Amino acid sequence: MRQTDFLVIGSGIAGLTYALKVAHHFPDKKVLVMTKAAADETNTKYAQGGIAVVNDMEHDSFEKHIEDTLIAGDGLCNEKVVEIVVKEGPERVQEIIDWGARFDKESDGDYKRGKEGGHSEFRILHHKDVTGREMERALIDAVNKQSNIEFIKHCFVVDIITQHHLGYLVTKATPDIECLGVYVLNLENNKIEKIIAGTTLLATGGNGQVYRTTTNPSIATGDGVAMVYRAKGRIENMEFIQFHPTALYEPGMRGQAFLITEAVRGDGGILRNKDGEAFMEKYDARKDLAPRDIVARAIDSEMKRTGTEHVWLDCRHFSKEKFVEHFPNIYEKCLSIGIDITKQMIPVSPAAHYSCGGIKTDEWGRSSIKNLYAAGECASTGLHGANRLASNSLLEAMVFAHRCFSDVVKEFENKTSSAFANAQIPDWDAKGTTEPKEMILITQSLKEVQQVMSDYVGIVRNDVRLQRAMRRLDLLWEETEKLYESSSISPQLLELRNLTTVGYLIVKGAGFRKESRGLHYNTDYPEKSALVQNIVL
Ligand code: FAD
Ligand code: SIN
Repeated sequence: MRQTDFLVIGSGIAGLTYALKVAHHFPDKKVLVMTKAAADETNTKYAQGGIAVVNDMEHDSFEKHIEDTLIAGDGLCNEKVVEIVVKEGPERVQEIIDWGARFDKESDGDYKRGKEGGHSEFRILHHKDVTGREMERALIDAVNKQSNIEFIKHCFVVDIITQHHLGYLVTKATPDIECLGVYVLNLENNKIEKIIAGTTLLATGGNGQVYRTTTNPSIATGDGVAMVYRAKGRIENMEFIQFHPTALYEPGMRGQAFLITEAVRGDGGILRNKDGEAFMEKYDARKDLAPRDIVARAIDSEMKRTGTEHVWLDCRHFSKEKFVEHFPNIYEKCLSIGIDITKQMIPVSPAAHYSCGGIKTDEWGRSSIKNLYAAGECASTGLHGANRLASNSLLEAMVFAHRCFSDVVKEFENKTSSAFANAQIPDWDAKGTTEPKEMILITQSLKEVQQVMSDYVGIVRNDVRLQRAMRRLDLLWEETEKLYESSSISPQLLELRNLTTVGYLIVKGAGFRKESRGLHYNTDYPEKSALVQNIVL
């Protein structure tokens, strides 16, 4: 057993930003950061386009960024949170610059600013087309210099410990559910350990792996959301899954797809259908730079209409020098599969990209469970509403990591002792479980979950599809629970269990939402409802 004042689950931008701030503020205390994979294997590392921030007051303003965010969010953003993120953003971006992150500059020293769908101004700071890699590098370097951060890799957090584990009845109606720590599967010795923590931050990222193709890496399995749901905490707006319009199409693709950043369209890339037609003008006056939900639906519709598995992104009119300067990684990737972007168009299709909903938090990042905070993609703060504006998530993660930190400092100073302070938290009970006889039962079920979600709960939905999805997920859930009760735990089994839960939450939210709004489009209810509501599960 370990004990810590400050526990952080996740080593992406949200977890590391928070850890650095807490460690700096409490130099005599240890901050424990855990991740289930290598230090930098995060969604953060793969971010391409950049970070949206107002730092050119001559051409841009907070009001414009707020308005763009609200328009994309389609009536569901929390306006106070939008204002908080946009206005606190510049200070947070300056902090990561001070920690060593480099953003591209013009020859006069001013920042280069890109544009993406839904933005009325050029405001996206970037590091070529590998912004996330650069930000993650800077954060890890800073963490490595902070001697009171203990960084443990390859430890899979299984569940949040609450009073339920002490034998108390905990239901959704229990008013004071309290997080006492977590159970963790140590992947180096395959043992489950308990960590007792004063305060825990969940920064576990997204859940793109619930679909067959996604821009997300394999760690994105919605673990934090599933853990909070099991612990009877509140989860919100899970139906709003953002499909990125332009993942690189490769025949037979499955799992993580390479992204072609929206910044390519920001610089003038044009989407064309199989007949070479620049089709976006048929769908929206903003053409290729309309918000993502509109572009992804337009591509989906063109692919269905023309019976193709992808559309094309045309960059042949770019100067090679300019393209390579801004997008060296994309240029190389395309070349590696035989596409010279100066002569050939890039085949692209939509892929699951971002979860707008998640663990419901207040404006200080507090979840509905005491002592448990959530920040980054796993959280639902109210910023994104029904559709996230491009490049707003790195900003949100930093702003909310800071807000969690500020609240933790306040709480720490006024902390009253927990009702469960001296309770004996039981060790993990693995009695009656044995090694799974056939790993294929787990891998096959995972493929089925991804298939069901992609076939029935994709960009365009309807009630029959959602009902089918729910029936199939029910069965997969039942089978997975049986495996979980009888088998010794493995990361594959835990991820299957979490993804089945996340799939269920997406379908449940989608079923409750009897309208089409933002990223949720149901052909049985093509209009927006007059009732503007968040769906809390
Ligand atoms: P992550 O960076 O995903 O980190 C999650 C961490 O939690 C990982 O360390 C993981 O190992 C750990 N973890 C998860 N479960 C467990 C568990 N059970 N136990 C222990 N550890 C666990 N956003 C922008 O704003 N601009 C962009 O340009 C942009 N481009 C993107 C491009 C791509 C290809 C992708 C995939 C996303 C992009 N996004 C972009 C979105 C953005 O990158 C993410 O939303 C953001 O980085 C999420 O950060 P995070 O800290 O919440 O989670
Ligand atoms: C991209 O670079 O297109 C992704 C940006 C984002 O997801 O915000």
